[in-house]
Amino acid sequence: MKCALVTGASRGIGRAIALQLSKDLGLHILINYTANKAAAEETLNMIQAQGGSGELLHFDVRINQDVKLAIDKWSEANPDSNIEVLVNNAGITRDNLFPWVTEDDWDAVINTSVKGMYNCTQAVIQKMLRKRSGRIINIASLSGLKGVPGQTNYSAAKGAMIASTKALSQEIAKRNITVNAIAPGFIESDMTSDLDMNELKKMVPANRFGKAEEVAHLASFLASDKAAYITGEVININGGIYA
Ligand SMILES: NC(=O)c1ccc[n+]([C@@H]2O[C@H](COP(=O)([O-])OP(=O)(O)OC[C@H]3O[C@@H](n4cnc5c(N)ncnc54)[C@H](OP(=O)(O)O)[C@@H]3O)[C@@H](O)[C@H]2O)c1
Repeated sequence: MKCALVTGASRGIGRAIALQLSKDLGLHILINYTANKAAAEETLNMIQAQGGSGELLHFDVRINQDVKLAIDKWSEANPDSNIEVLVNNAGITRDNLFPWVTEDDWDAVINTSVKGMYNCTQAVIQKMLRKRSGRIINIASLSGLKGVPGQTNYSAAKGAMIASTKALSQEIAKRNITVNAIAPGFIESDMTSDLDMNELKKMVPANRFGKAEEVAHLASFLASDKAAYITGEVININGGIYA
């Protein structure tokens, strides 16, 4: 069975990507989450309701051993299945002006996005290399290109994801594995629910926040055969904001 692993697929952009990959590409979706099992189950119900299949795969992307153990165990139980698409989507914010960013807040944000990307990619890449095919999609951010005040930790994390995307893409392009990053601007989700949308949308030429589904369509295209010659790219999806 052809599968996609979407980290942080219990909510928001990850859930939308999980649904879209199932719908467009018929992939069996491994729905990763860390805390919110009920929301992850809801994602699974939604996938099944549109005729697709999937299963929950619990691990904290920050913890290398947990990720490896969960994926190895899944692989052993499913010898005929193959993770063809990895979407490194799990991410958090801990915003503050730099002097008040605690070590905890720095580490939590970097470890979720950057270490998480390392842990999950390490766990699937050997098989992709052997099979000579695969898609890796890293969900970065406008913050990683532009740098956003109050988000030094998050900007650093997303900037690192972008640089790593470019480096890894060049290492493995010969094996028909593409590695791309998506850099969303303001997207409606739990992550942005505390922001003053009416004020911030004035910064967006399109005059609105984006929808998780709009990001999901881009991820689905990058995961498809149609995008085989696109690699090492960072694709903005932000309603017209220049980085
Ligand atoms: N929303 C935006 O405007 C925006 C803009 C640019 C980039 N992004 C990026 O897009 C991605 C998704 O954001 P979102 O807006 O959909 O966020 P969200 O609604 O807050 O959802 C975050 C998801 O990540 C999961 N997660 C968090 N820490 C995790 C960990 N340690 N291990 C595994 N899963 C973890 C959460 O799982 P639980 O449900 O179990 O907690 C949840 O599914 C993030 O990387 C974010 O940085 C978002």
